[in-house]
Amino acid sequence: MIRRSWAEPFKIKMVEHLRMTTRAERESAIREAGYNTFLLRSEDVYIDLLTDSGTSAMSDRQWAGMMLGDEAYAGSANYYRLERAVRDVYGYKHLIPTHQGRGAEHLLSRLCIKPGQVVLGNMYFTTTRAHQELAGGRFVDVICDEANDPDDLSPFKGNVDIKKLANAIESYGAGRIAYFCLQCNVNMAGGQPISLANVRAVREICQRHDIPIYLDATRAVENAYFIKMREPGQSDRSIEDILLEICSLTDGCTCSAKKDALVNIGGFLCLNDDALAEEARNQVVLFEGLHTYGGLAGRDMEAMAIGIRESVQIDHIRARIGQVEYLGNLLIKAGVPIVRPVGGHGIFIDAARFLPHLPRDQFPAQSLTCALYIDSGVRAMERGAVSAGRDPDTGENIFPELELIRLTIPRRVYTQAHMDVTAESVIDLRDRAEEVVGLRMTSEPRYLRFFQARFEPVEGQSVFRRMPARATVSP
Ligand code: F0G
Repeated sequence: MIRRSWAEPFKIKMVEHLRMTTRAERESAIREAGYNTFLLRSEDVYIDLLTDSGTSAMSDRQWAGMMLGDEAYAGSANYYRLERAVRDVYGYKHLIPTHQGRGAEHLLSRLCIKPGQVVLGNMYFTTTRAHQELAGGRFVDVICDEANDPDDLSPFKGNVDIKKLANAIESYGAGRIAYFCLQCNVNMAGGQPISLANVRAVREICQRHDIPIYLDATRAVENAYFIKMREPGQSDRSIEDILLEICSLTDGCTCSAKKDALVNIGGFLCLNDDALAEEARNQVVLFEGLHTYGGLAGRDMEAMAIGIRESVQIDHIRARIGQVEYLGNLLIKAGVPIVRPVGGHGIFIDAARFLPHLPRDQFPAQSLTCALYIDSGVRAMERGAVSAGRDPDTGENIFPELELIRLTIPRRVYTQAHMDVTAESVIDLRDRAEEVVGLRMTSEPRYLRFFQARFEPVEGQSVFRRMPARATVSP
């Protein structure tokens, strides 16, 4: 049988023009941005692969829904429609909307972590761990070893190592463990999924020790797709069905709706426990807004309710992950070192191997994001030592095993041609990688430093040792 290609299950109704820049303009823009792509103006970016967060294109139905915003302070009709969508698709009992994912993480951490407790999980996420630490907790990683090996081709590299989990419960004692924080399509590991079998095993062991599990449902829909495609016995099930089972094995979730759920802003906390939900509804008023809007406008909740239902449609998810895979395959074919298998939301380039001449304390991944931007106006994100930050107890830099840059694909935004241009730029850079110099940090914010830190090249005035002799493909 001939395998047919996927194509987008939509056509384009409105376009947003992109500004083309020259290489000299980009050199100057990144210098002014302190060699941090987060500090660039988006006007100076051609293809923006910084994040898939809040960058999705909404559908005509979502935009139409924006006109149905019920902007009442209390009891908005949109809240009730959102509640129904979340119940139908995720299955939890109580919904507390928040302005975005970290609002939900803040609430959950305040509610469930006592100072001195630990949170177990399958790899940290930046904002999630920051809130756990602010609440006095410490994060303990029990992800499988395969997650840290970019070349390991296991299908579920986001899996929890059940032995590490059992050992952690044994050494800390169940009473000191606030909860298990279960990541889906583990972001910092390269968007790697967990298997349903693994979630069931985690549930079994946590239940035995009375340890609640809270899911980070941010990319759970995309994880459900990988389960359908890769896990024996799951191929006939719908995305909805698999997702409901994942959620049913947990006690609640935090979710950034800015990813899977196809909105530009929004998030939520879900809880099954009545008393905890009542407390969360009480505390959300302090930090986000009344429990029927949580920092969102009515129209935002309507767009989210519609986006949640669109997100689980198989044609959508196949094209979304297909596009990520398309870019990944171009790079794999050219021999670029990327995390494999290709994950759900982006391509993660192994910067340590891409720039082997740079020591880790010169932040090779940060340098590579700058070189890529200068080369073609493509904006990527560092996911290595800068993102990992410092140990909260010793103050030392953390050098995680993976030193990556992420080319994150917004949903329903770019075309295959944008992917081609991106791949060409990465491949060109790989061929003259030795020209890229390292960076030193000149200013370091206290929290989540990767967002606002500033850098300078360790030598010269650019991240390129010398201007390349040959012409580059300026967009
Ligand atoms: N959990 C995961 C797995 C995330 O990827 C994010 C955000 C959050 C929680 C926090 O949600 O941004 O709505 O407050 N990730 C973005 C990213 C920032 O680029 O990966 P938020």
